[in-house]
Amino acid sequence: VALGALGTPLLRPYVDGDWEAVVDLCLLAFAPGCESLERLLGTDLDWRTCIRRHLRSLTQSGERRRLVVAEVGGSVVGVVHYQVDRGTRSGCIGVSAVHPARQGRGIGSLMYRHALDAMWAQGAKYVTAEAAGDPSQAPARRAYEKVGFVAVPTVHYVMGPGRTRPGAATRPRRGKT
Ligand SMILES: CC(C)(COP(=O)(O)OP(=O)(O)OC[C@H]1O[C@@H](n2cnc3c(N)ncnc32)[C@H](O)[C@@H]1OP(=O)(O)O)[C@@H](O)C(=O)NCCC(=O)NCCS
Repeated sequence: VALGALGTPLLRPYVDGDWEAVVDLCLLAFAPGCESLERLLGTDLDWRTCIRRHLRSLTQSGERRRLVVAEVGGSVVGVVHYQVDRGTRSGCIGVSAVHPARQGRGIGSLMYRHALDAMWAQGAKYVTAEAAGDPSQAPARRAYEKVGFVAVPTVHYVMGPGRTRPGAATRPRRGKT
């Protein structure tokens, strides 16, 4: 009996038959964050299409071998993608998601540890991961920190259409007369 059938997460490479489950769990997992970003920007981001397209590009390219799924009880409940840049010898955690009904049980951090082990084994000198600072990605930040990532705060600016503030470049520069 496979480990994943006993309720213990089994991590394995993505295969074609996982497509529907992976898309479904990603759309469910990313909905809160994407919908709140749409509200903030006041614009439709068509994020479902973007997610599908991104997953399609991963599964139809060489990246597919760095796409790992987590299976519990015979169902795919999580996915993580990682990359290693051989030039800079750096790794990064890409898309990662756990089905909302299975979140908060250690599956995300298990997937991150697995991806990290693979990246160290492939010669990465350091690994990066990104999460938004808003509440929707609090579980992602917590999971990253649980496996050992240290936060380097960065401010990511966004703006929706029609929100550019008017202004003119006529003011004297500070400190100049
Ligand atoms: C990020 C994600 C993959 C983590 O998967 P997971 O299986 O929930 O991860 P874990 O259970 O290992 O860790 C999640 C941690 O966040 C904690 N958490 C949950 N909700 C939280 C909240 N609102 N604030 C702070 N921490 C929270 C959990 O309690 C857990 O920590 P603990 O083990 O110390 O209790 C998953 O939450 C997810 O799919 N999120 C939406 C997509 C996303 O943000 N992806 C990451 C960026 S690509």
